[in-house]
Amino acid sequence: MKILVFGSFNIDKVYSLPHLPERGETLYCGGYEIHVGGKGLNQALAFSKAGADVSVGGKIGKDGRFLTDYLQKCGIDIGDIDHTGEFTGHTIIETDPDGQNQMILFGGANREITPEYCDKLLSKYSDADLILTQYETSCVEYILERAHSMGIKTALNPSPYVDEIKNLELGKADILILNEFEGKSIAGGDTDEETAKALYDLGSKEIILTLGSRGAVYYNGSEYVKCPAFSVRAVDTTGAGDTFTGYCLYELLKGEKPLKAMMTGCAASALEVTKHGAAETIPDREAVEKFLKENE
Ligand code: RIB
Repeated sequence: MKILVFGSFNIDKVYSLPHLPERGETLYCGGYEIHVGGKGLNQALAFSKAGADVSVGGKIGKDGRFLTDYLQKCGIDIGDIDHTGEFTGHTIIETDPDGQNQMILFGGANREITPEYCDKLLSKYSDADLILTQYETSCVEYILERAHSMGIKTALNPSPYVDEIKNLELGKADILILNEFEGKSIAGGDTDEETAKALYDLGSKEIILTLGSRGAVYYNGSEYVKCPAFSVRAVDTTGAGDTFTGYCLYELLKGEKPLKAMMTGCAASALEVTKHGAAETIPDREAVEKFLKENE
């Protein structure tokens, strides 16, 4: 099985603040850092660190070479990236001392992806393969629809949530991985179980709903499984969902049971949130296995 992560590549500009700003408030920041990021990049890295052979698709600008250099250094196939964008996407990330954050996203080259590019990319894949995507680029609906019609297994992380996601045919995604807020916004539900089941009714075969510090739940039409989170001191939650997505999905593809897959995802994201940053703080497999043993 070939694995394609189609998604966003962002330059993350991270500002450490004493607290998240109020409306109209000016704050001095205690630290400024530039990191590689974007949900596509982060999820590709997490998938790869979990153990998968991953190729990426997406678009960057002239200022984004360091992103693809980083991915290549990590063993990810970057051969299909389109480098002809004007500006690479970037994210302004404000973090507070409790690890909470808020973001401003500039789409840049991520939003210039065309159907022609998607067709060329997909022509290298078949019904034996998997594509994972998110909602930070243009053409998400197009690529999902095309991949689905070619019989390629599809996984969607519909993040970040925007109202137009409700108009997507979510059943074109075999696997839906999303957080509580996204799940409730899309399908409603008063409890985790109700939300997971309402999402399932929209057509995907497997639903994985992440619940932050409460863990995650899984539903596939017959089996409803809960997985508690590990308790850690979070300093920066940026990238936690991407880390979970890559690790959990890899485990499911390997044939692991949903509980084991979610536990591995939760362990990886628990480790990720204990450090500042997103992509660079995704733990490697060895660290995740060690953490799981220590927290059995
Ligand atoms: O999920 C975290 C990512 O969201 C960050 O790396 C940022 O670029 C935004 O895309």
